Amino acid sequence: MNQDALKKAAALAALEEIRALASGAVIGVGTGSTVNLFIDALAGSGINIRGAVSSSEASAQRLAAHGIPLVRLDEIEAETLPVYVDGADEIDPGFNMIKGGGGALTREKIVAAVARRFICICDASKKVATLGRFPLPVEVIPMARVQVGHEIARLASGIPRWREGFVTDNGNHILDISGLAITDPRTLESDLNQIAGVVTNGLFARRGADVLLLATASGVERSERSG
Ligand code: 5RP
Repeated sequence: MNQDALKKAAALAALEEIRALASGAVIGVGTGSTVNLFIDALAGSGINIRGAVSSSEASAQRLAAHGIPLVRLDEIEAETLPVYVDGADEIDPGFNMIKGGGGALTREKIVAAVARRFICICDASKKVATLGRFPLPVEVIPMARVQVGHEIARLASGIPRWREGFVTDNGNHILDISGLAITDPRTLESDLNQIAGVVTNGLFARRGADVLLLATASGVERSERSG
């Protein structure tokens, strides 16, 4: 199976995972190629959701093209969404993730924060023992980009690289930090967010995944975070 087929298998497994939770509800939808497959499958699934809160303009466009009603997060009366479905760039055994390869990390983190259940869908290449081989994205206010880069290099001993030409849905820039081996993701997530000019970083440790649907050559493995 190639990577796209694995992504599709994970996306289809997510439908079954959310079927009971999502019926009649507003759900949270992430961003990326795996989520695109999930959106396409959701549209033809017969699952009757009330609408979706999107984590990006790209996913919003795809949802709208399928006729799935878009709901703004600030329109939601309830304090939570029952479920949020998203991919990851890396996920470790503790269900901590690096996200933001598509640059949607800030809105992803906001929507994930209000969801009761985070379902991570990905192919087996995303499962790692230690986070950090994938460069960690950090969204920064444009005027602070250079200074934030210096501070990141000092604090995290990583090498920040400007994702030149890319502007987030929030009008900001991205620094991708390479050369990290992240043994304490919760602490690094907090420390990076303390740097003036950082909007957020792509570590999802304080709000990690609850369920992982990992597509492998021998099928989709389902696991839940322990503790
Ligand atoms: C986007 C993300 C994505 O979830 C992540 O990049 C994985 O994407 P893909 O499903 O295309 O591999 O965080 O900001």
